[in-house]
Amino acid sequence: MTPEASATVAQKRQMTHEPYRQILFELQGAGEDAKLAEPLLLDMEQRGELLDRHAALLSLLERHPAPHFVNMLLINDEVKLGIDEVRSYPQYVFFDISSICSVECRFCKYTHEQLPKRNVTLEQVRRLEWLKYVRMLNLTAGTAEAITNPQFIEIFDYLRDTFPHLHITLLTNGRTLHERIQRKLAGRLDALHVSMNASCEESYNQIIARGSWKQFSENMNSMRTTLAGLARPKVSASFVMMRSNLHLALQHLEFAHANGAAFALFHHFYPHYVHDIHGSDPDALRDKFGFEDSLYHEPGRADEVFARVKARGEEMGMELQIPPPFHGTGAHIHFGVRSTTRPPVDCNYPWTSMYFLWGFKSKREEITLCCGLASDIGVHYDHDEIATRDGLFKARNSDVLRAYRRTVNGLTMNPICKMCREVDRFDPSAPYADQRAFYQFNGLPVPPHFDQPTQPYRKRTTTDR
Ligand SMILES: C[S@@+](CC[C@H](N)C(=O)[O-])C[C@H]1O[C@@H](n2cnc3c(N)ncnc32)[C@H](O)[C@@H]1O
Ligand code: SF4
Repeated sequence: MTPEASATVAQKRQMTHEPYRQILFELQGAGEDAKLAEPLLLDMEQRGELLDRHAALLSLLERHPAPHFVNMLLINDEVKLGIDEVRSYPQYVFFDISSICSVECRFCKYTHEQLPKRNVTLEQVRRLEWLKYVRMLNLTAGTAEAITNPQFIEIFDYLRDTFPHLHITLLTNGRTLHERIQRKLAGRLDALHVSMNASCEESYNQIIARGSWKQFSENMNSMRTTLAGLARPKVSASFVMMRSNLHLALQHLEFAHANGAAFALFHHFYPHYVHDIHGSDPDALRDKFGFEDSLYHEPGRADEVFARVKARGEEMGMELQIPPPFHGTGAHIHFGVRSTTRPPVDCNYPWTSMYFLWGFKSKREEITLCCGLASDIGVHYDHDEIATRDGLFKARNSDVLRAYRRTVNGLTMNPICKMCREVDRFDPSAPYADQRAFYQFNGLPVPPHFDQPTQPYRKRTTTDR
């Protein structure tokens, strides 16, 4: 709706208070039905409750029957005003429902020994009081594999049926994405990302430890029919690319396309974190790829192959994301990685996003704010506590998250957020962020897990292998 049309609606009902007219216009611009907020704002105006914009958004947040767009406007205001103690809820939530994976990718920090084995229960998910404010919920925050949760389907069904407005997404390695599960997700999940990482048995076994090509390939095979032609989920696929699998890039692209992916992403391998987590455990490190496997050692060959992938992707009409060429103009650093786009002047992640995961250093439930340079930030949570609004805000307004909001942008930028705009963390020769610098910069205590080398949660035994 144009501002003129919106103004006409407001005039017809005699809404004159400018902040309310503007809020209504923005909510409609975001896609909200005018019938929802308009009577509430009119009622406030007619009762002489003429609030400023910020107070009006806070008041609407409590009264609105579907407050996720009001919450979004509130976040935008908090970012603009640099408010560190927020009243908004996160609009993007990444929520791990399991600490257990079904494989051990050799490029990934995950090992079966690293973390305690935990699943979030359906009851714990049902107790979350604040999902009506959230716009996007990803059932993966980066720890492991959501589908290993024995109540995965029940949790998904509950979320889908109770919160139709939520954009629900899932990342999976595909090994246990059985046809039975695909049928449950068909037409109901919004976006499905399969970290395929391989396209034939040999490449699968080379890159994924303790997996099963048979199960994975059967699941991919059924995905091509089970999800074909549906409006949702949109299927995407990704591949971590290293020196040893670069020659398979075109084959990977064909495999993703043949199995129903509309979007394929090719990433570089990020070695630093794997080394940081397992550096003191030679057994674990032996199973993982190392700095020498990075394609940064062969930039010419990488550029040549990715150029062919790009051309073939265009021919197939496939949406693609490939790393910017090493040789060429104008790669910026955005989110700690080379990018063809300039980073936004202001980063809004500390307001918009919350990742609920297991810290690979602390081995406890931990919140983080992005998947950029900030990690293991030491904001711990208890599932039952964060289920309530008060508990959520206790974590959301913790000293650490407030310090991130105060120092993420502007002239007093903390050293981690500065690195996120300056250092390509995928480069094996790049300096590795020392997270302690953030706490020192902000006069906060350094979380104890940074003071000792990271150890596995339990000792590896031969039966694990
Ligand atoms: C940590 S996984 C978690 C979700 C799920 N288990 C999966 O594999 O999709 C998230 C994504 O990060 C990618 N990934 C993991 N370790 C990586 C690394 N060292 N470098 C680049 N990408 C990595 C995986 O391929 C996957 O797409
Ligand atoms: S990348 Fe995903 S599938 Fe592979 S080990 Fe890590 S968490 Fe598991």
